[in-house]
Amino acid sequence: MEKVRIGVIGTGYVGLVTGASFANIGFEVMCLDVVEKKVNMINQAIPPIFENGLQDLLTDVVKERKLLTATLNRRETLEKSDVIFIALPTPSSADGSIDLTYIKSEVEELGKELRTMDGYKTFVVKSTVIPGTTKNVVLPLLEKYSGKKAGIDFGLAMNPEFLMEGLAISNFQKPDRVVIGAIDDRSFNEVKKLYLSFNCEIQQTTTSGAEMIKYAANSFLATKISYINEIANICEELGIDVSEVAYGLGLDERISPKFLRAGLGFGGSCFPKDVKALYALSKDLNRTSKILSAVLGINELQPMRAIQLLEGLMDIKGKRVALLGLAFKPDTDDMREAPSIVIANELLSKGAVVVAYDPIAKDTAMAVLPNITHSNSAEEALKDADAVIVVTEWKEFNNLSSKDFAIMRGKNIIDGRRVLDWKELINNGFNVKVIGQSPP
Ligand code: UDX
Repeated sequence: MEKVRIGVIGTGYVGLVTGASFANIGFEVMCLDVVEKKVNMINQAIPPIFENGLQDLLTDVVKERKLLTATLNRRETLEKSDVIFIALPTPSSADGSIDLTYIKSEVEELGKELRTMDGYKTFVVKSTVIPGTTKNVVLPLLEKYSGKKAGIDFGLAMNPEFLMEGLAISNFQKPDRVVIGAIDDRSFNEVKKLYLSFNCEIQQTTTSGAEMIKYAANSFLATKISYINEIANICEELGIDVSEVAYGLGLDERISPKFLRAGLGFGGSCFPKDVKALYALSKDLNRTSKILSAVLGINELQPMRAIQLLEGLMDIKGKRVALLGLAFKPDTDDMREAPSIVIANELLSKGAVVVAYDPIAKDTAMAVLPNITHSNSAEEALKDADAVIVVTEWKEFNNLSSKDFAIMRGKNIIDGRRVLDWKELINNGFNVKVIGQSPP
């Protein structure tokens, strides 16, 4: 393995997982952040975010092998790195387009440091950015503030991440592919050196091509989800089990069984934002995407299916409704764009009392949903509830049976994620409605 030193700017989910995973391979990594608390935590091997396996990984690369350090010092990071990943947030603006403020101001600072520094360095955009950003925004800013020339004095590439929260570390270690968009062969080869131990195809493309691959991939996966959710809604009317349909679809290798789980819609930090951004771009280009518009429309309505199914069973006003699961998906405490937010607020606006339980997202959820009661266990949430909605498919909810739900005052159960044994529940006198199935 060639000795390449890595810098990572930004220690969010993507930056920290990327840095820690490269350190795990044996590279020396320096992570830069502006938040002192995060830097201190990382240097003590304490993950500032919840991610499966990250605690062990940090203990190994920070404490034991001493391959990863975090710092507040930009110059030091640049001096000690050959390849510098930029992994800063690109939040949505009000019109759905992405906000490049963080990236632009960081690139300006990096350029200023580079002006007085020797040696060839390669900058790599890791953040998800609109096609054209690396070439038309990052490159000119770096050149302007450094007074140096891209392709001669420094390299530039775009290397999108395809990490799923909760599985980010294993996704990093076993990717389906690595995409490297580069302004020239030298930049490509500098980044490729980091991935030589990976057992997958490394695709070389342009920076704009790499940026587009990321958006097109996430939008395609989101399309699959909205598609199966729409099929699920039709299945409900016909008494067909959407899982059987999805299974049959997935047996066709051209379709693949992945991302065909019907539920309450997609959330998280990527899908909603990325689909909106690509849609906004398509509009700007006068090539308005009809598919993406439908994908977003379906996803906006899908959490409301839980409310509609519940209203088919009872009047919500004045009732106590338990929500099981709040995080946008299991194995994370992330509440960004979680369908639970829409569901809880709709229940509140209809006059319900909402009591929720999430195995780990309690703290993050309290900040987003301050007007509901946050319980410490499923049992506590279910006690005296008139109805329950399973919102997130945490494993521990799979085992819930009529014995657990007996603690409720009412008998109404909405399974928004298709995890409960509805036959057992119906046999024991519960009224159960399931997304994509609606049992008799
Ligand atoms: C996603 C992409 O998978 C990843 O490649 C990208 O880098 C970031 O965005 P993530 O947001 O962590 O990852 O979650 P993912 O597991 O992909 O799920 C996204 C959303 O879709 C969740 O709300 C999930 O519940 C929902 N989903 C997923 C479904 O409703 N059905 C499915 O079949 C799959």
